Amino acid sequence: MEVKDPIEMMKQEFNNYIVPKGWEAKIESLEDWNKFYQETVKDKESISRYWESWAEQIFWFKKWEKVLDDSNPPFYRWFVGGQTNLAYLCTDWQLQKGRKNKVAIIWEGEPVDEKGEPKEVRKLTYYDLWRESNRIAYFLKNRLGVKKGEVVTLYLPMVPELPLYMLALQRIGAGHSVVFSGFSAEALAIRAIDAGARIIITADGVWRRGKILNLKAIVDEAVKLCEKEGHKIEKVVVFRRVGNEVSWNPERDVWHHELLAEVPKNVVVECEKMGSDDTSFILYTSGTTGKPKGAQHSVGGYAVYLYATTKMIFDIKDDDIYWCTADIGWITGHSYIVYGPLMHGATEIMYEGALDYPDPSRWAAMIERYGVTIFYTAPTAIRMLMKYPEEIYLKHDTSTLRIAHSVGEPINPEAWRWYFRVFGKEKTCSSSTWWMTETGGIMTGHYPGRGKILPLKPGTNGPIIPGVTFAIVDDEGNPVPPGKRGYFVITSPWPGHLMTLWKDPKRYIEVYYGKYMHKGWWYYTGDFAMIDHDGWIWVLGRADDVIKVAGHRIGTLEVESAMVKHPAVAEAACVGKSDPIKGEIPLIYVTLKKGYEVSDELRDELRRHLRATIGPVVASDALITFVDALPKTRSGKIMRRLLRAVAEGKPLGDVSTLESEVAVEEAKKAYEIVKAALEKR
Ligand code: PRX
Repeated sequence: MEVKDPIEMMKQEFNNYIVPKGWEAKIESLEDWNKFYQETVKDKESISRYWESWAEQIFWFKKWEKVLDDSNPPFYRWFVGGQTNLAYLCTDWQLQKGRKNKVAIIWEGEPVDEKGEPKEVRKLTYYDLWRESNRIAYFLKNRLGVKKGEVVTLYLPMVPELPLYMLALQRIGAGHSVVFSGFSAEALAIRAIDAGARIIITADGVWRRGKILNLKAIVDEAVKLCEKEGHKIEKVVVFRRVGNEVSWNPERDVWHHELLAEVPKNVVVECEKMGSDDTSFILYTSGTTGKPKGAQHSVGGYAVYLYATTKMIFDIKDDDIYWCTADIGWITGHSYIVYGPLMHGATEIMYEGALDYPDPSRWAAMIERYGVTIFYTAPTAIRMLMKYPEEIYLKHDTSTLRIAHSVGEPINPEAWRWYFRVFGKEKTCSSSTWWMTETGGIMTGHYPGRGKILPLKPGTNGPIIPGVTFAIVDDEGNPVPPGKRGYFVITSPWPGHLMTLWKDPKRYIEVYYGKYMHKGWWYYTGDFAMIDHDGWIWVLGRADDVIKVAGHRIGTLEVESAMVKHPAVAEAACVGKSDPIKGEIPLIYVTLKKGYEVSDELRDELRRHLRATIGPVVASDALITFVDALPKTRSGKIMRRLLRAVAEGKPLGDVSTLESEVAVEEAKKAYEIVKAALEKR
């Protein structure tokens, strides 16, 4: 594929951080960069040596004995024998570096006054983070009996208490499972049961577009659902955020501030010396079955990978103001709001509410208010902002930005250009960083630089990170030529690699290593991608039954199994449909059981059902279409590619490649029926 319109990076020094101490390289051209990259991946020893150079830059209670133990693939162990702690790295270590009084988090609540100024701003220094997480750790351990290795479920909105609880849990060696607060009671219950959590931490409510969302009520419902399944939630800790009325069970519920009030002032809880390959957290993500999977991450490997990628891609310096707009409920927030930036002693922004409240200029106003220099957001958000006249953004000075990346889904060149021009003033280093929940951290992207070293190209994901190898291959695993679509695989382990799937090592091997087992240990990303003539990656979208709705990862099978729980639904099939703003939206075809009639009321009810079973994250964008029958193969498999073709308004195309065992005439008929149903909506 020809690369059109490369844009030179301007006015920025190239950060040579990708060349850690102990490596000789001066990178002044793309050729130098390629040479250096090749050196880091020459062989297994070079890869290990590269990551070891990064490990040497962070704090360890005890140094590792071996960089990588790959004797039992794909259960890789990094920095074996080493001991560290994520909370120590984010707080104690920062105090030792002299950052005690440095602001770590500037938090803005959603509500504004009549002048449009935020009503609530909280600033927490590194000392505040350290002290408050120590106090929380104290009551978690001594009052609630949280033990090392235990997993606690966090269902919290974007308030500083979320990172504080995460740090407190890391401190005492417990794991967290953060569940995005846009998930429903049922989704929360499924995750709490699977994690084996006996404690849920939540808030009374949260502000969302000027309204209060009662989170405690959702947790109450989730606790009931857990009990129905024989799983007891012993304690629900509630942070008072908005002061709304909440129902209360005095035996089970306890206020965060009341627990805190009992803690001695300035208490210090000793930081657990965690083994490098102990578990730091699990985070549920969607796959190709109805059941979400818990990606389980390590302590040492994850810490090193985040330390390295945060430095390389974001180039955070002491006087930067960094802002990642993700929700901490997703991996982007875990890695690039909590652990990566705090490990670097960054000052960062955290925002509670909606990007368009009270109007779409909120983000631009905040960039101006705090002089944000590094910004990290999602293509969906950019496309949503693009809908409005750009004058509303130009009223605010965003010229402080020097880096403005995106993540979560492919970015269309038009959105990239808009972001680069309107927010970035055509001087930012802007890249579409590709990675996944499972990779722990960023795998591709541009490094802030100067000249023609890594020219920006709208839409590309850029080069792979040094010390990581990849390939774009066909079904058999043969490399596809540049410009051709293939499957994206990572062909060597990296430190941020998930350790396994929680309680399901078999599924871990199958999902990520099953497809190319005959080639050795290749991590299958599940993405389609393409390589260009510079060797850069262009991720094109998911190759499996996962869709990206506003950058949120949704399993279509999860949606289907939720739908069929409704008494009216006989069968359901969900596919992604392209959407100019959200990227994709779920299109759900439904057949009804006997005795139920198609109606708008029923459609609304099904949407409410979806909201209750999965949550607003899916329900608010879903398109529900009724059909008399779902097109199926003779062996009973739903013809998804046919459904996708209809969804995209594409012709049916070559039926023989569409699905095996399908008669041409049957498929054509089914196509027309489904198309008509969709048009009738
Ligand atoms: O399809 C890819 C897409 O998001 C998937 C991973 O989703 P999740 O685990 O929720 O993590 C998202 C945030 C790290 C990938 O398999 N994806 C992520 N970033 C990009 C992307 N697709 C294209 N370009 C990106 N920059």
